[in-house]
Amino acid sequence: MRSVHPFNHQWLFYPERLGNEVSDAQFEGVTLPHTNKLLPYHNFDNAEYQFVSTYRKRFVLPEARQGRRVFLDFEGAMMACEVWLNGHKLGEHEGGFLPFSFELTKHLNENHENLLVVYLDSTERKDIPPYGFVVDYLTFGGIYREVSLRFVEPCHITNVFVRPQGVLTDNPLVVVDVQVENQNDRPFKTTAGVRIKDADGSLLASATMPDLTFEPGSSTKFSLSVNNLPPIQRWSLDNPALYFAEVTLAEGQIDQRIERFGFREAEFRDDGFYLNGEHVKLMGLNRHQTYPYIGAAAPARLQRRDADLIQNEMACNIVRTSHYPQSRHFLDRCDEIGLLVFEEIPGWQHIGDSDWQALSLRNLQVMIERDHNHPSIILWGVRINESLDNEAFYTATNALAHQLDPTRQTGGSRYFQGSQFLEDVFTYNDFSDTVVDPIHTPHLITEFGGHMFPTKSWDHEERLLEHAMRHARVQDRQLGMAKVAGAIGWCAFDYNTHQEFGSGDHICYHGVMDIFRLPKYAAYFYASQIAPRRRVVLQAATVWSMGDRSRGGIDPLVIFSNCDFVEIWVGNDRLGCFEPDRASFPNLPHPPFQVTTGMEHLTWGKNLSDLRIIGIIDGKVAAEQSIASDGLPSALLLQVDDQELDADGADMTRVVFKIVDRYGNRLPYTNPVVTFEIDGPADLIGENPFALIGGQAALYLRARHESGMVQLRATTPRLA
Ligand code: GAL
Repeated sequence: MRSVHPFNHQWLFYPERLGNEVSDAQFEGVTLPHTNKLLPYHNFDNAEYQFVSTYRKRFVLPEARQGRRVFLDFEGAMMACEVWLNGHKLGEHEGGFLPFSFELTKHLNENHENLLVVYLDSTERKDIPPYGFVVDYLTFGGIYREVSLRFVEPCHITNVFVRPQGVLTDNPLVVVDVQVENQNDRPFKTTAGVRIKDADGSLLASATMPDLTFEPGSSTKFSLSVNNLPPIQRWSLDNPALYFAEVTLAEGQIDQRIERFGFREAEFRDDGFYLNGEHVKLMGLNRHQTYPYIGAAAPARLQRRDADLIQNEMACNIVRTSHYPQSRHFLDRCDEIGLLVFEEIPGWQHIGDSDWQALSLRNLQVMIERDHNHPSIILWGVRINESLDNEAFYTATNALAHQLDPTRQTGGSRYFQGSQFLEDVFTYNDFSDTVVDPIHTPHLITEFGGHMFPTKSWDHEERLLEHAMRHARVQDRQLGMAKVAGAIGWCAFDYNTHQEFGSGDHICYHGVMDIFRLPKYAAYFYASQIAPRRRVVLQAATVWSMGDRSRGGIDPLVIFSNCDFVEIWVGNDRLGCFEPDRASFPNLPHPPFQVTTGMEHLTWGKNLSDLRIIGIIDGKVAAEQSIASDGLPSALLLQVDDQELDADGADMTRVVFKIVDRYGNRLPYTNPVVTFEIDGPADLIGENPFALIGGQAALYLRARHESGMVQLRATTPRLA
């Protein structure tokens, strides 16, 4: 019988390669996910985390082995490692974005302590994708995803692929491909079964296969087919219904795996994308997996929250996991909330030699075998992002993807229209700013914006507005183009990068949110496209002052909102009631409001009163925003995303702090130093004191292993 134990606690870490003669006392105790170096949020040299480190873990087996084999499963460690158990080298692994395993069985001490050692090389190894050339993102070091210890019988399941079929018919069925490895030295006879359950755990249907024989040393694939299903709910964007497939060998006496899946049909056609036979225009953003301070070592809660930000706060229906497979927690959340995913293999512009390409093919295989049961994933990226054509390599990646997963189409992001079209979907990074006419279909825009218009959240109003409008214009235009399936903007969040790409402080300010996941005006544009029944959005894109724009004034006043009308007051003057600018944005569900009436009188040097905007839906007041005209700071605001954390030494939440006017609006040019004091069993991750920029920023709170109450106090001179 299989059993799996989380293996994330009580690791020891040292930021150099150390032999076993060095005592544990030299090491630091750490919990996974772990970053090999805590950093400032910007202005650091990426050499700081590029080194070989030693992770050590002493452990006794958490249960008796009873003839089973024992494996150590790593979900991701950057970027290459050697693993040793009790002085025996188990092997090496290359690649930082995908899971890998080592078998411990042979060298285990079953009754006393074991010593596990991982030498982790976090340097930019030219022999490992994405490296070999320059790369516009950072690959922070550490065992940055979870590890577990797995006990399995010598004959066990190694992979399960759940493939619903005929989803649009009255009689859908579920085909379940099961891969079984028999590591016994004799043939093994057993039975296999699958039970399909709904989200509440009720049994819907099942199938069995008696009399299976697995030859010694074999890896065998067979399929079970379940066709006596009651009516099912399809996985859709509004109702992402999930089911479970419970696969067993010998009724679970030998092995059991539970996979979550959904019933849905996803297809790119010449005229766009279809989910369950319905045409859906795709609007989305790219996501990097990195965070301020902690690199990529974000726990489940932060991973899941990013999906929520993209789908709910920014109203996207698709995300691209640029440019590598991301955390299972992120993908799980995408499944749960109905956020579609384009997932691609690691790489950036460069294709290496044949060994490098072999690694890349292995990455593709592991990515598909890890993720094929996520209903949210609708497309595999089988090209190295923005690389040149390479017919042999990309014919191979494409064929491998189709062989491993006949249910999904392939794409591969390129930046030139003339590139060889070997995949199913022409996925194109379109930096034209106007949207090119497709020459191949299906056509999906996988990037736009980005480095063409880097924008900091404390840039002046005109630049922030133009940044937002560029996203609005491209999305509006693509929505009106029948041959374009959708557009995924570059990108969701600002990110740390190499000096070849970033602003002077090594950040690419390409996000519609900043590195702390706090909104710029462009994020308000995306937010405003949400259906008002989900959330009413009303956000003026202005600091409401006379002297921020060139020549002064506030003309036009731009408001991002999903209200039918906005009524505008300046002090006691009612300027009128205004409609969204449908003439300039005929295709957006909720075009921006661009108000000029009354604004022409607000010129540089004139007295200004407070702004008040009232949003109206169906004739009723649905939202309101006021902005003070004096620009004076009124308070320091401290907000925490979660009220409760798991006391597991790894869980984290974000702590946002900002300087606001008397109506609660952020004041981007008010930047005092903020000092924090913490009390209780948690640690503050980030800079303390913090020299604000943009009037807002964030730190993280990380739980320790004891439970208790945590109090955080933030202070800044002269403000409550
Ligand atoms: C693209 C690239 C992205 C990012 C972006 C910035 O060419 O694929 O990773 O660098 O440019 O605009």
